[in-house]
Formats: sequence, C-alpha cells, structure tokens
Amino acid sequence: MKPGFEKYIPFAPQKIVGRTWPDKVIAKAPVWCSVDLRDGNQALVDPMNLQEKLEYFHTLVDIGIKEIEIGFPSASETEYEICRELIEGGHIPDDVTIQVLVQAREHLIKKTFEAIKGAKNVILHFYNSTSTLQRKVVFHMETDGITKIATDAADLIYEMSRPLIAEGMNLRFEYSPESFMGTEMDYAVEVCQAVIEHLHATPENKVILNLPTTVENCMPNQFADMLEYFCKKLPDRKSAIISLHPHNDRGCGVATAELGLLAGAERVEATLFGNGERTGNVDIVTLAMNMFTQGVDPQLDFSNINKIKEMFERCTKMPVGDRQPYAGKLVFTAFSGSHQDAINKGTQYMKESGTEYWEIPYLPIDPADVGREYEPVIRINSQSGKGGAAYIMEHNFGFDLPKSMHPEFGTIVQKETDLVGKEIAPERIRELFDAEYIDAKEPYKLLKHAFQESIDEQGHSHVTFWGTLQHTDTVFKVSGEGNGPIDAFFNAIKDEKMAHFTFLDYASHAITDGSDSQGVAYILLEDQRTGKKYWGVGLSHNINLAPLRGILSAINRSWMDRHQQ
Ligand code: KIV
Ligand code: ZN
Repeated sequence: MKPGFEKYIPFAPQKIVGRTWPDKVIAKAPVWCSVDLRDGNQALVDPMNLQEKLEYFHTLVDIGIKEIEIGFPSASETEYEICRELIEGGHIPDDVTIQVLVQAREHLIKKTFEAIKGAKNVILHFYNSTSTLQRKVVFHMETDGITKIATDAADLIYEMSRPLIAEGMNLRFEYSPESFMGTEMDYAVEVCQAVIEHLHATPENKVILNLPTTVENCMPNQFADMLEYFCKKLPDRKSAIISLHPHNDRGCGVATAELGLLAGAERVEATLFGNGERTGNVDIVTLAMNMFTQGVDPQLDFSNINKIKEMFERCTKMPVGDRQPYAGKLVFTAFSGSHQDAINKGTQYMKESGTEYWEIPYLPIDPADVGREYEPVIRINSQSGKGGAAYIMEHNFGFDLPKSMHPEFGTIVQKETDLVGKEIAPERIRELFDAEYIDAKEPYKLLKHAFQESIDEQGHSHVTFWGTLQHTDTVFKVSGEGNGPIDAFFNAIKDEKMAHFTFLDYASHAITDGSDSQGVAYILLEDQRTGKKYWGVGLSHNINLAPLRGILSAINRSWMDRHQQ
C-alpha cells in the first residue's frame, strides 16, 4: 500500500453540461423523514429499549415529522416487537406514516410484511448496495446481478402488497441504491428505472427513490452535479419522489442535503442532532432551522429545543455538543468583546428602529425561536470587552450604566477575570460593582441632611441644603444653595476639603426589583488636582438622596485612589 494520503483514490466527478442547480434557492420545505429510530438507533452503543423508542417516537410526532422510519423489523425479535407495539398500542397518529427498512432478500421481506400488519400508512423501504467498490469487494457481481437483486425484491414486494392494499392499507414503496454516491450515475439510473418498472410506479403512484450518500466521499457540489444528472437521465422521473439520505463523513452532510435539494430532491431522511452511523446522518434540526433563518417555513417545530435535546440525550445516551448548531449550550453565547459590543448595538437598533426583521450581528437566529430566550447571550471571561460587563449589569440587575462609564467598570471586571483566569458569573460582577461604587462610603459620610425648596414667580426652583458630614473622626456641618438638590449639595461641600472637584456628568433612572423601586444616580467628577475622572454611584429609595450618595461615592473613590498609591 502507498503511504499516507497517496493510498486514497480521488473521487471522479460526474461530467455534466448546463447544470442549473447553482442558480436555484430553497423556497419550500422538503418532505421530512426521520431515520432516528433505525439508522440512528443502529449506531448507538446501547440501542434504545422499547420505552425509549416510544418516547422518542412521540417526540418526533410532536415536532411534526410525518414519515418516521421505525426500525428494521426483520433484523431482530426486539425490532419486530417494537414495530408491533407501535401498531397495536395505537401510538401512530392517522397522519403519520411509519417506514420499515428491509434488505432486498426474500425471507426478510416476508418477515417485514408480517410486522406491518394492521398499520394504516406504511412505506416499505428496501435496499441493496450498488457502488463499484461494494460490487467488487462484497458481492463479486456485475451490474446485472445487482439489478436482479433489486428487481426480484421489487417483484416480491409488489405481489405481497396487493392484498394489504386491497384491504385498505396505504402502502407505498421506497428503494435505496445503497452507496449511491459511489455508483456510476448511468448505472444508478438503470437500476432505479428497473425498480420503478417492477413496482409499476406511475406519476399518480410514485415510488420514493432514496439516494444515499452512505459514505460521504465527495464534495457537496459534486454530489449536486450527480443528482441533477440522475434526475435528468431517469426516464420515469415523474413516477419517483427523489429522496436524500446524507451521511456526514466529510462533515458536509448539511451542505450535501441543501445542494441536493437545489439539484432536484424533494425529500430528506435525517436524524435529530445528526445521530447515526460513524459521523452520523444529516442533522434535521440544522437543516430545518437553516431554512427558517432564510424566511422559509420548515414545517417542523423546534420551538422547545432544550426539551428535545434533553429527551435525545437521555434516550440515546449521546451528548449534544456545546457547539452543535441551534442546540448547543454555547451557540447563543458571546464571550468576545467585539461580538458583545455588536450584539448590544444590534439589540439597541432593534428597539429604537422598530424594524420588523431580526437584525442582530453574531446572532443568526432569535434564541426565542428555539425557546432559548432566557439563556445568557453575553458571558464574561478574560476575552470580554468593556460593554459586556455593562450588558450584564443592565440585563441581570437593571443598571443602565452611562456609555462613558463602561470603560471604567469594564477595566475593574477585566482585572478580576485576568486574576481568576476563568469565566465570572453575573453575581460576581454585581459584587464587584457594589464593592467599587455603592460601598465607597469612606472616608466621607453623609450623616443627616435636609432640603428646602421654593419656586419663584418665574417658576425657577431654589433649593437649600443643610447636612452633617463625617470625615474619619471629624463631624462637620455644611450648607449650600442651588437651583436643584444636586447643585445645592455640590455648592455646600465646595467650601470643605471637597472643593477641588468639577461636576462633569450625571444620569439617573429607577430600578424595579419586584415591588421595590429604587433610584440610581451615576455621577462623574473630575479631581482638579490630578485631572483624573471618577464615577460614583448612589442608590436610594429617595430620588434626591441617590445623587448625593453618587457624589460622595465619586469623591471617596478618588480619595481611595490617592491613598492606595
Ligand atoms: O446509509 C445508507 O445507505 C442507509 C440505507 C439503508 C438507506 O442507511
Ligand atoms: Zn444510512
């Protein structure tokens, strides 16, 4: 064998002239078929038991999937029993079709017919492998022999189905040329056309031709070329529903399905979160939600993805990765500063513009559409920027910090994340905020105070402030006048040692925490001695007191700054 990459045979692309699929768009949902309970189940370390399969089945029904492959009833007694329980236990709604898989072999087909007795809507899905590699190394057969396996099975299925259909069963057929991706397209057309004829399919009574990428061994665009070629060459194209069954060996299952739909497919077989053999089947959640985010109704309901994920993890014992599209724990989370900033601006834009559309950078979907609106979008670690901490203060605690305060508080939070070296929780951010601003009550304290307000004939306000302040052990009285409480207080303290501050900025708002409403004031002062600026924050149920506390908080922070150096 050749070494390394040289031992692999490159895929030979299908030649096609005048391809049309690149100019198309996906404008409507395909027919969805879940293969979770068969392809997904057969790939589990511990396949699901009856109870788990039933719970899973009901979840698929709730999602809105109308065609569900429930298993391989001829493969084992357990599979047979599960099929019988679904039918006899009345679990299958009238508008849902169960699909059963069987190899193109006589005794297995007969057993499968026994298994489906009494069901209302059934797709009998049979397959045999057609690829060059499988013909060479597994079956040791030419194409004629492979075609005969398929047509013999088709004949038997057609004959056995007559009485059931006569009794009223809505029984349809599906044929898979397994390993279609590795099959010469002209031969794939030949075997599928033969099956169409042996099943007596017509445009009114179509057969599902399921074209699996059993092993994904070419690029999605090459697959789309193959599919368009196949659809154009198939003589009785109108008698077939073209179905895809993408696996994910190259990690392109979603792209293969999407380009396959552009190239003419009408149906997709998939599983929740892409469970399935090896790297899995294509993920139905991603496919559906990709359509959703393009304004196309996928006709599936993933509005409670967390519940579906919980069921999936419990029944399959497979974890859904933190980065799994739409479902992963972290997919609606931004740690990076620039992302947080853009999300903040997008949220603001949506509020202010009243746009009808979802227009938030870095969030391709509204988390509410998958039931994830209560999870934190912005989380804080050492990669986070200045706006992130302010976002947490607003969304978790109702503090709308002035924009120009974000850098100062952001730096305080960043120091902490650098120190601890991991993510910090919103509660810790609140503690840092309180410790830095709200609890900056030393050395200057306001012990007691009073205001008097009068309004003159012109409507101008005159406020007088009297207060008792304490600086370490010294208690002193101050008084001042101004056109409002803040002005009066600021004038009162100017005569004291606090004279060297300039008042630069002020903002305030109410915070409602349950029934309790408090006012918060943000004050920016400049210390003229150093030219440094300090924010202070005051919190009080009294709207006149909050700014006074804010002023003292800024003065005390400047004092601490000078005395700590
Ligand atoms: O991947 C595959 O080819 C299959 C077939 C049986 C449809 O699962
Ligand atoms: Zn498969």
